[in-house]
Amino acid sequence: MHTSNLYYTEPQLELAELLVASAFPSRVFFCNSGAEANEGAIKLARKWGKMHRDGAHVIVCAQGAFHGRTMGALAATANPRYRKQFEPLPKGFVHIPYGDLEALEQSIDSATCAVMLEPIEGESGVIPLEPGGSRRSGGCAMSATCSSSSTRSRPAWDAPAAGGPTSTRTRRRTS
Ligand SMILES: Cc1ncc(COP(=O)(O)O)c(C=O)c1O
Repeated sequence: MHTSNLYYTEPQLELAELLVASAFPSRVFFCNSGAEANEGAIKLARKWGKMHRDGAHVIVCAQGAFHGRTMGALAATANPRYRKQFEPLPKGFVHIPYGDLEALEQSIDSATCAVMLEPIEGESGVIPLEPGGSRRSGGCAMSATCSSSSTRSRPAWDAPAAGGPTSTRTRRRTS
């Protein structure tokens, strides 16, 4: 069942609480696809840059990565095969060779708000990032989604009947 984003659903709250308690002590953003997750991450990074880094907005990305088919995610994806027909794409993305930590360090300057890397690139093979690779980005790395079927949202008809989406109650957002 789809609900407007003006409302939270109880299963959503329960899942968020579970994730925050077991994975990371922060907030959870639910979305429908890998591309949407990356759009959210891009916007979050830019907002942070605007608020805390004097308007820093550039995101450093890696060649060979795939981040999705929406305009921001495509701008983060270097492969011309995906980009070409949709150019001009949003500006503010630079692409460095994957795993080149020297290039990564050199690409970061006062305009950088984030580094967007897949811990394992899948589009160009199965290539893991060198250990410590994301730490070398000076702490501004964000992991791009790894969109296997297990990370995608399940369709409503695949949900358990009891307490599942068909019996979802809603709560109004407070902010
Ligand atoms: C690494 C990675 N990021 C993002 C995406 C985009 O995900 P979606 O197709 O769910 O928008 C994919 C899709 O294959 C992917 O493999």
